[in-house]
Amino acid sequence: MDSGYEILAVDAGSSARRGCLKTLHGSVETPIFMPVGTQGTVKGLLPDQLTTLGAQIILGNTYHLNLRPTSELISELGGLHKFMRWSGPILTDSGGFQVFSLAKLRKIRDEGIRFQSHLDGREVILTPKRVIDIQANLGSDIAMVLDECPPAEATRKACEAAVERTIRWAREARAYAGETGFLEKGHHVFGIVQGSRHKDLRQQCAAALIEMDFPGYAIGGVSVGEPEEEMMPQVTMCTEVLPADKPRYVMGVGTPPQLLKMIAAGADMFDCVMPTREARHGIAFTEDGKLNLRNNRFRDDNKPLMERFCDLETGQFTRAYIRHLIIAGEILGSVLLTMHNVRFYLDLMRQAREHIEAGDYARWHQSWIERYLAGKK
Ligand code: GUN
Repeated sequence: MDSGYEILAVDAGSSARRGCLKTLHGSVETPIFMPVGTQGTVKGLLPDQLTTLGAQIILGNTYHLNLRPTSELISELGGLHKFMRWSGPILTDSGGFQVFSLAKLRKIRDEGIRFQSHLDGREVILTPKRVIDIQANLGSDIAMVLDECPPAEATRKACEAAVERTIRWAREARAYAGETGFLEKGHHVFGIVQGSRHKDLRQQCAAALIEMDFPGYAIGGVSVGEPEEEMMPQVTMCTEVLPADKPRYVMGVGTPPQLLKMIAAGADMFDCVMPTREARHGIAFTEDGKLNLRNNRFRDDNKPLMERFCDLETGQFTRAYIRHLIIAGEILGSVLLTMHNVRFYLDLMRQAREHIEAGDYARWHQSWIERYLAGKK
């Protein structure tokens, strides 16, 4: 399967790669961070602002958009790109993961997941085929297969069952995406590796998915409640067996140091609510660690969040002013912090790409992390 993915450079001292992924709505340079736009909006930001901040691709969600306003309505109105006025690539998650965190009375069966909507209690069924149909209705550039992600504390037996189901569902989804012409039209479908902390299960899952020949592979089930020291091994046990010429996407992570370490292990794509959610809680990311703008020490701080981001007008507001907005509960405080944090994550990925290209990624990412962890300004 042509993934439309090209590796442009490999770092000299790590497994980090720089690549370019072609989609129906343009190319994406990897490593890349994808801001999360669950409900057809990256909360608080206009599409033009996302572009100005450096966003190349954003995330949407099958679970939410299927329940409201429904993928059928979005399809009638011309697809998700037109609906939300974002003309760049969109990756959509398949919904299963969200069922586990949001829905009531869920039942996993071999044919799919049956649950009650968290909005109105309506019974909904997601099957491997249905989630491809939903993502086709949305016009997703990169669709994800339905998977089962067990919680961190799941028994080995439960993990085995989840891997077995994930493989079966992936096979069904892959075949259906072929039969319906979804792949032929140029949309990508990524398989998802599960298996929790068990190397043999993860590698067995990866091997089965690789045989199905997906345009790209995701590493799921990371950051689902396990201790931080278990996160990286789960990623490396996958990257060491996933094909080098296909994009690798680690789902739902992470902190800036985690992203840099995963890039060093050969991961290419990431999404996380952290920059946008933390912004709404008054937190700004900086190269010297996180700032909690609610803290009294920012009351009279006349500096911008980061000097380097003052080329944009929205980067010029002072810490004292943003703190005032946050304390006063003003929307603009959340918007300014969201813009800052999204730019911070995207700029970090830009720097990563440059250092991979220069061949000094290994040394650079270590010193970046040291400064970030040491900083408490
Ligand atoms: N988002 C974060 N982790 C996961 C996962 O394991 N599966 C899916 N589908 N989405 C995710």
